[in-house]
Formats: sequence, structure tokens, C-alpha cells
Amino acid sequence: MAILGPTGSGKSYFMTYVIDQRARRAGASAVIICTKPADKTMLRLARDGAWKVRRTWPPDYGEERIIFWPKSSGLADGIVKQRKAIYEVLAETWKPDANTLVAFDEIAYVEQELRLQPVVTKYWREARSLGITIVATTQRPRNVSRYMHSEPSWSVAFRPDDEDDAKRVAEIIGGRRLYTPILLDLEPHEFVIVRRRAREAYISRIE
Ligand SMILES: Nc1ncnc2c1ncn2[C@@H]1O[C@H](COP(=O)(O)OP(=O)(O)OP(=O)(O)O)[C@@H](O)[C@H]1O
Ligand SMILES: [Mg+2]
Repeated sequence: MAILGPTGSGKSYFMTYVIDQRARRAGASAVIICTKPADKTMLRLARDGAWKVRRTWPPDYGEERIIFWPKSSGLADGIVKQRKAIYEVLAETWKPDANTLVAFDEIAYVEQELRLQPVVTKYWREARSLGITIVATTQRPRNVSRYMHSEPSWSVAFRPDDEDDAKRVAEIIGGRRLYTPILLDLEPHEFVIVRRRAREAYISRIE
């Protein structure tokens, strides 16, 4: 699933909501990879105790729902450590019958600043066959692997900031002419959710 929208539009809120539901229902393990210095929406998810925030890997035995949030203190040093930590999680998850959900909160950062685009691309292309579900948010859809726009079964888009962004996002989720006016018409926290292969689309919001 790809989740697109500008800052503050509700990407993380939506992502935490759907992943939590999915993990509870499917009993699958899940890891959300966080790279922002601080994020209230992510911490909110940890409040009821089902999710644990972890700064280092691996988590404790039996911990199935992890918010993996490696520290990024320092300048260059912080980035190197973050890159290594996230790479380790991805490498360890990469095995047959993984039955795991991996979520990236701001995948553009992981691809560009952490220079993990080749790994992320491989994830988009092949992880499904290993039983890995990928969910990713971005506010920079131009700066991510094109597989984020072609591979997901579901695309979710919040209201873009301006018409240019709306056209770009519309193209990604299924067509400029159809979706540009719909995107520009969304209310705050409303989104379009598209299931492309089934040619289904809905406008919705989380109450
Ligand atoms: N459906 C909703 N109902 C009520 N509040 C919401 C809803 N969606 C998001 N919010 C609130 O809006 C704010 C921004 O949401 P969120 O953190 O999900 O944005 P974001 O798109 O992830 O932003 P960023 O790109 O900066 O991480 C948060 O305070 C969140 O609690
Ligand atoms: Mg966010």
C-alpha cells in the first residue's frame, strides 16, 4: 500500500490505524520503520501497549508489533547508524514465509538520505512472494522508486498542496483527468483510496 500526501495531511494517522487493524486481524508480526526525530502520531500508537517502541534491533522475544525508531543523533554519524540499523531489519525480514508487515514512515528519506533505494526497490518488486506486506508513506512522490507507484495493490492519497502536485499524484493513482479534480476537492483528513487492478476507488476518512 502506498500513502501519498503533504505534511500534516494524515498519512501516519491513516497508516497506524490500518496497520494496527491488519496486525490484530491477521496475527502477523509487523514493524514500522520510523526515521523522523519526533512524531506524535507514531507515539500515539504505542500508548495502548500493543506496540513497542524499540531503538535497537532485535526486539525482545515474543514482541510482534514493533515501532522501530533508531536514534539519529549526530550529523553524518547519525545517518550512518540509521542506515545500518534499517538495513539490518530489512535483511533479517527477507526470508521465505516471512508473514510480516513492513511499514516505512517517509520512504523517500529511506531511499534518498539513507541511500537504501536499491534495497527498497527489491522490496517492492519481490517481497510479496516471501509473504511480506509493504506499506509506505511519502510526501515526495517524485523522489521515490517508481515501483512504489506500480506495485501496490492499494494507493491512498490525501489533498495535495497545489494543482501541479495534484496532477502528478492523480497520474500515479490512476489518471490525471479523473483524479485531479477529485484530489483538489478533498476535505482535511479525507483521502481517495484506489484499488487499481479491481478498478475500485472510494473517498473516505477515519473518524
Ligand atoms: N482522521 C483524522 N481525524 C482526526 N485527526 C487526524 C486525522 N488524521 C490525522 N489527524 C491529525 O492531524 C495531524 C497530522 O496527521 P499525521 O501525523 O498523520 O500527518 P502526516 O501526513 O503523517 O504528516 P507528516 O508528513 O508531517 O508526517 C495529527 O495531529 C493527527 O492526529
Ligand atoms: Mg507522518
